[in-house]
Amino acid sequence: MTRLPEPLTLTAPHGEGTVLSYGAHAMSWAPEGHEPVLWVSSRAATETGRAIRGGVPVCFPWFGPGRTGEMTPAHGFARITEWHLDDQGQDDAGNAFASFTLTPQDVSEQLRESFPHEFSATLRMSVGSALRLELSVTNTGEETFEIEEALHTCLSVGDATRVRVRGLDGVPFHDKVTKEQRTQVGDLTVEGETDAVFAHRGEVRVLDPDLGRTLVVSKEGSDSTVVWNPWKDKAVGMSDFADDEWQQMLCVEAGNVMGSPVRLAAGESHVLAQVIEVEPLSEDDAALQG
Ligand code: BG6
Repeated sequence: MTRLPEPLTLTAPHGEGTVLSYGAHAMSWAPEGHEPVLWVSSRAATETGRAIRGGVPVCFPWFGPGRTGEMTPAHGFARITEWHLDDQGQDDAGNAFASFTLTPQDVSEQLRESFPHEFSATLRMSVGSALRLELSVTNTGEETFEIEEALHTCLSVGDATRVRVRGLDGVPFHDKVTKEQRTQVGDLTVEGETDAVFAHRGEVRVLDPDLGRTLVVSKEGSDSTVVWNPWKDKAVGMSDFADDEWQQMLCVEAGNVMGSPVRLAAGESHVLAQVIEVEPLSEDDAALQG
């Protein structure tokens, strides 16, 4: 294990962010004049070899324990592997960007055995008034394979128990806590351990009365939205959460997981993207929370 590399800072006229080559892991982003949008635990790993608790871990090529339920490390090897910085700069719209690439040659021999396929994965982070994260995966081999993937975004919230997640009403989901198939009714609120995989392609809005803002989370190329908060007991049992920190975070993840993997034939590519924007909380939404 060695210390994490220094993060790369992306500075644009309308926002600033940081990203690590380890895991191609977005660590921070704030649009100009706003508080940070990504949450990172004060106990997050500072050395390689472990996953970082917070920011945006890239889950690939499997999610959680994978579809067999037996894969390790959890959420795949991408988030604990060093990626290569291959481009950085400013685009025509004035956003600052960096892109990182991962191929099997970067992955330890032991981990590669769990996914014996030829691929190239690129994570592009672009910051300005919006954050855009784009994970492109190409099958560079000759045989078809399936992957799971997720941008495991950890949002910073004022108080997770007072936040409302809008946009999932009527959407079926797999409740990973109770192991039941259910359907969401109305806004999602966090009232206990929350770990839900929604069959969902659209946008969600995270209404935060304490920070007075709405985080608008949209996406492309994604059939799954995952919402996760460990709640008190589970967080206390995790070495990389300070005891009360679970209240300041909510993961809203864009992915293709469990029953919705991505199948890539030889030469095919797939792009998964998530975009986050900040809007002021409307008076009507603020009134809902009292
Ligand atoms: C979520 C999963 O995406 O990530 C949860 O749905 C999991 O089941 C959580 O507990 C955190 O995973 P990890 O491996 O970072 O502790």
